[in-house]
Amino acid sequence: MLQRLIFERIEQRILVGIVAFLAIMALVGWLAINEGGRMAAFEEQYNARSIERGAALFNVNCTECHGPDGRGGAGVAPALNSPYLFGHDFLAEYDRELISLEQERNNQDTTPERVAEIDARVQVLQNDRQNMINQIDTVVSNKPGGYDPEHPSRLDDLAWAGSLRAFVLTTLIHGRPVSANYWPRPMSAWSQTAGGPLRMDQLEDIVTYIMNWDKGDAWTLEDLAAVNQFPIKPVDPSTVVASDRQVIVPGLTDANANPDQLDFSVIMPELANYTGDPQNGQALYNSGLACAGCHLVAATAPILDGTWTRVQDVRLQDPANAGLTGEEYLAHSILHPNEYIAPGAPTGGNYPASVMPPYFASRLTYQDLADLIAYLKTQDQPLPN
Ligand code: HEC
Ligand code: HEC
Repeated sequence: MLQRLIFERIEQRILVGIVAFLAIMALVGWLAINEGGRMAAFEEQYNARSIERGAALFNVNCTECHGPDGRGGAGVAPALNSPYLFGHDFLAEYDRELISLEQERNNQDTTPERVAEIDARVQVLQNDRQNMINQIDTVVSNKPGGYDPEHPSRLDDLAWAGSLRAFVLTTLIHGRPVSANYWPRPMSAWSQTAGGPLRMDQLEDIVTYIMNWDKGDAWTLEDLAAVNQFPIKPVDPSTVVASDRQVIVPGLTDANANPDQLDFSVIMPELANYTGDPQNGQALYNSGLACAGCHLVAATAPILDGTWTRVQDVRLQDPANAGLTGEEYLAHSILHPNEYIAPGAPTGGNYPASVMPPYFASRLTYQDLADLIAYLKTQDQPLPN
């Protein structure tokens, strides 16, 4: 027997079908519109939990050196909860206006009256700017490590090209083994892959917690005042004067360094008369000559770890270095950096030329060079894949 249908007529059935279809589209649309909000709420909750977990991990593992609120431990470790790490520029508001005024002043259409106004305003701004610098200097005087308002960003000072998050995370993963040379205890590696105690997700939580200290434009002088310790900056190599020491080639400066003055057919046989002391090489590398200042982060320069392995397994395999020994490669790299530009920058391609100073032949004695090479030869760790 034929069952009775609810909608008997075909037109009614088509109508019901259309209405149902439209209703479903409307529902899907509504869900799609709300998805963003739902995800944002979810992400906020997720972040909040990540911050909470990160705070707990920070308390257990990091406060001992970096202080309970991340403001650093004097003589122990630098502040992380600091305008300097987050790169806040206390002078930016003055500089922005000064630059735009200068542009306006240089414009030919600017009337003499306006120029007079601009000059008056520039006076005021320059005074305010200087006052700000004086205030900052008062606040940070006697703070170990020191802070220079004209160099407000830790990442810029390290020539770190990536994000702050990546900087903190990679510091956590690998630690700073060489920091043992300028701090009482080094920043160790925390990731399990590098032999440390923490899992990757735990490191991510700690980084989220640290990033949560960012105040954006709202950093104040009180925040500077609260810092207990700023990072220690390696000495500027250009200020290390060789004075009366017998350097390899006297008189080279950044401006006049001329590779023609470096005759390796004379330098290498002379160098062979010296026995390198790796301990002293390490000291020179880390403080005396500030090599570590650049060779600490892979974004700036090839990192120290594994230098000797890299020379043997990679550099000397490059036809451009055919005929060089490992020691010769190092001597050339140190005295004449632009002769061969190391490939393998994290961004792909070569490292930039003319970044490493060209004048080390005027900073180093033969003994120093032998010591540096002896130290670099101890860096025979396996290379990361
Ligand atoms: C034994 C002391 C010690 C402990 C514990 C420690 N650190 Fe450090 N940390 C240091 C020192 C010293 C430095 C400075 C290294 C340098 O200047 O190269 C440093 C540097 C850092 C930096 C880089 C700061 C900069 O401006 O270069 C970060 C980020 C950091 N530590 C995070 C942490 C976190 C997160 C923990 C906990 C998981 C932690 N540290 C535990 C001693 C420590
Ligand atoms: C201002 C930053 C800077 C300083 C300071 C610096 N270097 Fe370099 N160094 C670089 C860069 C960038 C490269 C890679 C480009 C190139 O090959 O010239 C490099 C390359 C090298 C290489 C070749 C590495 C390789 O993997 O082939 C060696 C060795 C080296 N430097 C040693 C030193 C020593 C020793 C000092 C201190 C006496 C020093 N550097 C100081 C930036 C620096």
